[in-house]
Amino acid sequence: MFGLGKGKQLIGLDIGTSAVKAIVLKEQYKNYQLQALGMEPLPPEVIVDGSIMDSGVVVEAIQKILSNQKIKLKNAALSVSGHSVIVKRITLPRMSQEELSDSIHWEAEQYIPFDIEDVNIDFHIFDSQTDASGGEMDVILVAVKKDKVNDYTNLVRQAGLNPVVVDVDGFALGNQYEINYSLEPDQDIALIDIGAGVMNINIMHGKDHMLYRDISIGGNQFTDAIQKELNVSFDQAEQLKLGETVEGINPDSVNEIINSVAEDISHEIQRSFDYYKATSSSNNIVRVVLTGGCSKVRGGGIAKFLSERLGIEVLVGNPFNNITYNEKKFDPVMIQEVAPLSAVAVGLALRRG
Ligand SMILES: Nc1ncnc2c1ncn2[C@@H]1O[C@H](COP(=O)(O)OP(=O)(O)OP(=O)(O)O)[C@@H](O)[C@H]1O
Ligand SMILES: [Mg+2]
Repeated sequence: MFGLGKGKQLIGLDIGTSAVKAIVLKEQYKNYQLQALGMEPLPPEVIVDGSIMDSGVVVEAIQKILSNQKIKLKNAALSVSGHSVIVKRITLPRMSQEELSDSIHWEAEQYIPFDIEDVNIDFHIFDSQTDASGGEMDVILVAVKKDKVNDYTNLVRQAGLNPVVVDVDGFALGNQYEINYSLEPDQDIALIDIGAGVMNINIMHGKDHMLYRDISIGGNQFTDAIQKELNVSFDQAEQLKLGETVEGINPDSVNEIINSVAEDISHEIQRSFDYYKATSSSNNIVRVVLTGGCSKVRGGGIAKFLSERLGIEVLVGNPFNNITYNEKKFDPVMIQEVAPLSAVAVGLALRRG
């Protein structure tokens, strides 16, 4: 779950609510080159709130990407997100890695709102804390419902791949950010990915994960609101959201609905920031780095909207910022187009296993 790991190249496989994305990166002397990139849309209702409703459709989408992109690798890194994922930074009495491995279930119980028998648990002890004086250490605890991990790994196996790494979306965002931008050791930045169903918030202080939240809000909320309020179909609502015109619909009324959902998103972010400020000693978030398909809402205008509401800088992150690619194989316009949707897949493709 933590860091990039050592070993062989993996397929970064992001099974998102609206599309499956697969990316393969080759590493040469700390430089990364894009070898494969594929995306297959998923119809609505195939993945709902992070649960796979129709695994056959997802398996087909994965296989389609593998064959179109001629991906021969078999080992994949995937990730999960949503309400079955809990990531918490906690303080525990100082102990060794082995001691914590033995007691983690017991320690974790009070922090996890699920039955401890139903979750897979992973943890990371912060190096900076273990050497410090005092009897405590900071630990990041990750708990994911076993059902969820099993559903996702089984599906990937059905597609003929070996799921060798199961990450969480927000950590993949962190790994991606680290190779594309320089981490500033004493600053807090908020990596926020807004997809179709889930918004991942990952506040980082340098390399440290400080606060992690997955909130069930995203592009589908815009579409649903447009569909309900203007009484149009899902497809028409999706078109209107993308700025296209639909006969008989006034664009101003669409804008109003988009604004009200963007307002809800901004409130959710503000709530997480307020919680962070109230509970953390380090509370100077200097910047939001926005990714996910919703960073394109209103032609990217959502970044400015959020910046005004939150009162801090909001940049749209480019997960290919430091990744080279052959322009004969990958059209730069296409890369620019899919970049905001590729952050998690890039983060996963950086993993080795
Ligand atoms: N130009 C655009 N304008 C508005 N919305 C857009 C645009 N392009 C994509 N989207 C929206 O972004 C969402 C897809 O983003 P993304 O691929 O990041 O989500 P996902 O990974 O499939 O979902 P999740 O991470 O929530 O499971 C969809 O709701 C889509 O309608
Ligand atoms: Mg996503």
